[in-house]
Amino acid sequence: MYFRGMKNIAMQHSRFSLLLISILFCSQYYLQAQQARVREDFDNNWSFHLGEVAHAKDLDLNDVSWRKLNLPHDWSIELPFDSTSPTNNSGGALRGGLGWYRKIFTVPATDKGKNIFIDFDGVYHNSEVFINGHSLGMRPNGYISFRYDLSPFLNYGGGKNVIAVKVDNSQQPNSRWYSGSGIYRNVWLVKTGTTFIENWGTYVTTPAVTANSARVNITTTLTGTGEYCDITTTIINAAGSPVGTQTQKGLHIGSLQTLPQAFTISSPVLWSLEKPYLYKAVTKVISKGKVTDEYTTSFGIRSYKFDVDKGFFLNGKQVKIVGVCNHHDLGCLGTAINTRALERQLQILKGMGVNGIRTSHNPPAPELLDLCDKMGFVVMDEAFDMWKRSKVQFDYSKDFDEWYKQDLKDQVLRDRNHPSVFIWSVGNEIPEQHAKDGDTAGVAYLREMQRIVRSLDDRPTVTANNHTGDNNQLLRSGINELIGYNYQHNNWPPDMVQNKWGRKPFIVTESVSALQTRGHYDMPSDSMRIWPARWDLPVANANPDLTCSAYENCFTPWGSSHMATLKMFLKYESISGMFVWTGFDYIGEPTPYPWPARSSYFGIVDLAGFPKDVYYLYQSLFTTKDMLHLFPHWNWKAGQTIDMWAYYNNADEVELLINGRSQGVKKKTGDDLHVMWRVPFEAGKVEAISRKNGKVVATKVIKTAGEPAKIILQADRSAIKGDGKDLSFITVKVVDKEGNLVPDAANNIQFEVSGPGFIAGVDNGCQTSLESFKASERKAFNGMCLAVIQSNGKPGIIKLQAQSAGLVAATIDITGK
Ligand code: GAL
Repeated sequence: MYFRGMKNIAMQHSRFSLLLISILFCSQYYLQAQQARVREDFDNNWSFHLGEVAHAKDLDLNDVSWRKLNLPHDWSIELPFDSTSPTNNSGGALRGGLGWYRKIFTVPATDKGKNIFIDFDGVYHNSEVFINGHSLGMRPNGYISFRYDLSPFLNYGGGKNVIAVKVDNSQQPNSRWYSGSGIYRNVWLVKTGTTFIENWGTYVTTPAVTANSARVNITTTLTGTGEYCDITTTIINAAGSPVGTQTQKGLHIGSLQTLPQAFTISSPVLWSLEKPYLYKAVTKVISKGKVTDEYTTSFGIRSYKFDVDKGFFLNGKQVKIVGVCNHHDLGCLGTAINTRALERQLQILKGMGVNGIRTSHNPPAPELLDLCDKMGFVVMDEAFDMWKRSKVQFDYSKDFDEWYKQDLKDQVLRDRNHPSVFIWSVGNEIPEQHAKDGDTAGVAYLREMQRIVRSLDDRPTVTANNHTGDNNQLLRSGINELIGYNYQHNNWPPDMVQNKWGRKPFIVTESVSALQTRGHYDMPSDSMRIWPARWDLPVANANPDLTCSAYENCFTPWGSSHMATLKMFLKYESISGMFVWTGFDYIGEPTPYPWPARSSYFGIVDLAGFPKDVYYLYQSLFTTKDMLHLFPHWNWKAGQTIDMWAYYNNADEVELLINGRSQGVKKKTGDDLHVMWRVPFEAGKVEAISRKNGKVVATKVIKTAGEPAKIILQADRSAIKGDGKDLSFITVKVVDKEGNLVPDAANNIQFEVSGPGFIAGVDNGCQTSLESFKASERKAFNGMCLAVIQSNGKPGIIKLQAQSAGLVAATIDITGK
């Protein structure tokens, strides 16, 4: 009896425990399985038509004849270069126009009652979005991210829905650089419960940071319909472990409401440029035991300051910001955003020691900031290239008064949790600087923008000023926390800046604007070419083949050489950093040349992603690995006088040898940043040897190349994701029979792809090439070209074949996984 009784009790007990565990498990499962928030990639299966179409917004329009494509999409990059394009060559000589996109989709009946939003990361420009024929709104700004609520207009169950997007980039010119056209960034469909966290609805700050502990404040903005909810935020470290949780119970969530939560994280791992460590805050809204929304915010813990005398500090450590400006195009991919293409750009820049990015002159794709967070860059996040006073006829100035407050607010809301963002730039070379004809509106605009930024965030603001005179009304107003100069390096000494504007930290918002064609050299290398002679004059006596010299001897009259700029930059501690114009060549603004030049000469890296020689100057200054770069090539006329340059680090001296005979040892002295030998050319071999304390640090050999004989293919990655988006960048080199790069080779290379991939673009970095970026062939330019292979969404081996008449062909395999 006793035993049976005991057994019964034990059995009942164990049944109860099991029940409890399974209830707990099920409720846990239930909480997780509900998928409180769904954020779907909405990029695939759109229809596109270039040109106006009557009734394109209507649900029942027959669009079967429209082109089917996946976003992101830039239609301009697919068009031929055109000397008559109203975008001009400063817009890349590619046409804009008007286009329509449509996507048909269904929403299950079970989604009725949820909030369903569509998020556009960016549409260039003047977009109007329709759902089932209803206009949701217009957005003129081509760089801003925006959301619409679809819920009230949707058909649920099997009923069809159509999103139609009109994109109007027909009024030209509207940009000083190539803008691209279309839905060129990602699109998302977001579904939440009735009580939910607003778009960009969390704000994370780390107001007190030490090695032992960090305060993390999180403010969450919620919307609901009067439910009582518990709000739980858990902070999770990079290893996936929770390091702090806060719950507020029984909150009555009516319309818009904010909830502050505060955490103390002990022994935090700080976000730095060397170790960009990221935490996550996961916020859950729980109502009647159900998770109605879940929102994840990535953030970093770091402290920083800008000091008037000593520049920028990150986590208490002085850091010089060695930054570059970039426009948003991705070379032959146009402006259609691709995360891998952006990551490759950042990797190339890291390789030369760059640690800063200026998103000139507009809010970037969100993926760029995610990458800067992960890779460790300091970002200056810029809003506008002009305010009310225009720079080109149809630019954003005409929409400015109506939209700037909303656009700036949305930019700051979207980007303020990124640890990589340190500065808000509210304008580049704003014409209102000048207060021309007594126009003092600039100060009022600036004051209002400062108010908007300050209401949302406490990072410093700046304007990028190319007018540094006493009468610059924006600088005089004293509104911005940072003083920003574009160019004019002779005005950078601290006393000159502070005598004018007081004791405020200083940053070079833009510098250099040197002009270079990869692989082209005009000698003597110390004779300067200032092209054009004045900003408003056409270039005279420049190169008939529209090249610019890749020595440090060609630049604009408002700019200077990299070396002259760097010398000043390195001299003064008070300069927090600078952003060189530009990291990469970009489409458009081919100063100093007219058509057929159609892309810029400003890049340290060319449009195809191939470094110009000056890349290695930065590498010698801002990276620590042993390096030595010798240039130019060694294919000249017998007896011709050649300037051989070397950039080097970690060594005392460099010796140059021609066919084994020493041409002398050179050392950088004073503020020299390179060494040079002026030598007669003699075919064979030129060699540089750097030494420290007599020991060889590095050697570089260049041989005179013979005739083009074969093709070499080099993939930046031989395995990519088979996800339909990932890319492999294949460098194509034309070499002689011994494998030496032929420095002037211009062979036309034909490509063929088999397997689950396709050619996303081809390029060669030549600023005047009128070949299509979307072709399956490309001429080599100065010995090199590029083919970009994209996965088509399936796994398997992608084979690229490259051939050219008279050359030994090559193939390469890329594995799509
Ligand atoms: C700057 C301007 C940039 C670009 C550059 C070319 O003055 O801010 O957008 O135009 O000149 O040198």
